[in-house]
Amino acid sequence: MNFDYFPPAISNELGRHSLDAAADRNFLARGTHAPTLFEIDGIPVASLVRKFGSPLFVFSEHGLREKTRRMREAFTSRYENTRFAWSYKTNYLGAICEVFHSEGWMAEVVSDFEYEKARRHGVEGRDIIFNGPYKPRAALERAISERALIQIDNWDELSLIEELTAGLEQPLDVGIRVWLDAGIQPVWSKFGFAVENGEAWRAATRILGNRKLRLHTFHSHIGTYILEPGAYRVAASKLVALRERIHREHGHLVPCLNLGGGFPSFSLLHGMPGPAEAVVPPIEAYADAITDVLNRLPAKCRPELRFESGRHLVDEAGYLLTSVVAIKGIREPLAVNSDLSSRSHKEQLLLGEEGRTSYVLDAGINLLYTAAWYQMDILPARQVNAPPSPSRLYGPLCMAIDVVRYTIDLPPLKVGDVLSIHPVGAYNIAQSMQFIAYRPAVVMIGIDGEPELIRAREALDDIERPERMPAHLAKSR
Ligand SMILES: Cc1ncc(COP(=O)(O)O)c(C=O)c1O
Repeated sequence: MNFDYFPPAISNELGRHSLDAAADRNFLARGTHAPTLFEIDGIPVASLVRKFGSPLFVFSEHGLREKTRRMREAFTSRYENTRFAWSYKTNYLGAICEVFHSEGWMAEVVSDFEYEKARRHGVEGRDIIFNGPYKPRAALERAISERALIQIDNWDELSLIEELTAGLEQPLDVGIRVWLDAGIQPVWSKFGFAVENGEAWRAATRILGNRKLRLHTFHSHIGTYILEPGAYRVAASKLVALRERIHREHGHLVPCLNLGGGFPSFSLLHGMPGPAEAVVPPIEAYADAITDVLNRLPAKCRPELRFESGRHLVDEAGYLLTSVVAIKGIREPLAVNSDLSSRSHKEQLLLGEEGRTSYVLDAGINLLYTAAWYQMDILPARQVNAPPSPSRLYGPLCMAIDVVRYTIDLPPLKVGDVLSIHPVGAYNIAQSMQFIAYRPAVVMIGIDGEPELIRAREALDDIERPERMPAHLAKSR
């Protein structure tokens, strides 16, 4: 037997830079360099802040159109009869909506405000899908007169629509929203009629018995950031089964199935190990799951397929740029050495995790509603040649809860350093608060590579315009 000993060789295989080898292999390890985001669509991040101020939302038109094209291709290549609507509430900035409309997207709205906005963008009633659990009477009257597709949510709304359409000469196309168990939690039972207990069937039957209404769509929206394509397979199958039963018993083949939105963007929830690309299925997987169900139907019985997506299309196109305005906490952690007096040693222990460096940013939870759930990438806009260490990011609000991230590895930053937060394009602007701070400017980098203002930073007048002063309080100044 040969007992020759060969010492282990540390080869280049361990990583390009030996110091970063562990980090290269282990997502939870820290490397010696922090990742950086220098530019968006070729425009240096720091120059955007210099030109338009900080904080600043930035959107990539290229990113929006790419997502749009990929989603269209994913579905229409598998199922040609597919139409898409843009979910206004996800981000109703005019320029963003126009990008989707210019790509042929309909408008999906959930309130009178969004309905009016879609009409102002020139979207015809017939290209508007009107959802939501509360549609005010006046909004319904307008939607009916403009022949928008109302997707009915509840019995009271159905009764009101029956009343408002009683005098119509031509029947009105309507849809019903249904909820169902697609095998995922939570089940969004707040919206629509239940499929499983026969409620959706009863609502459909009542509509079919009304000569002023024509049942056009079964609609389900099973949730948001759905990571399981199979859930859509279940939802599509249940809608198809409901449609077949209606066809059998009433002779009416519902022309359209709308599977809602809910497709995820490449983001992670807090606590999820990444990278997002490893966790989030591609849109093609969802297209496979849904169209597989529909393509099994005889060709002449296949419905129009509709979607009303939000998050998936816009989230990654949006960045929030924010600047460090103050540094708090211990910048040079106390070294444990024999020189420490017992008092400072105790202090060091007591400080515990508070001993990390904290940065105050000029953007906080007032602009990042979704930061409570989503673990966005937060990257410096310049290369810092020092290893990252655990840090905390506070927002600017005079509120203890305004913490953008409790723990994040960042290299040492200076006041004035710019960070990019990404992806933030979905829901954050629409849900941003006019609380304590003005809402910032929004810029879109066009497909020509030029950044343009699409929403100015708010000013006091924007906030005070709707206010009225009672005469006895008005001072003559
Ligand atoms: C009825 C309806 N459709 C579409 C959407 C868009 O959802 P998502 O952003 O998950 O695609 C929503 C959002 O919750 C919704 O309520």
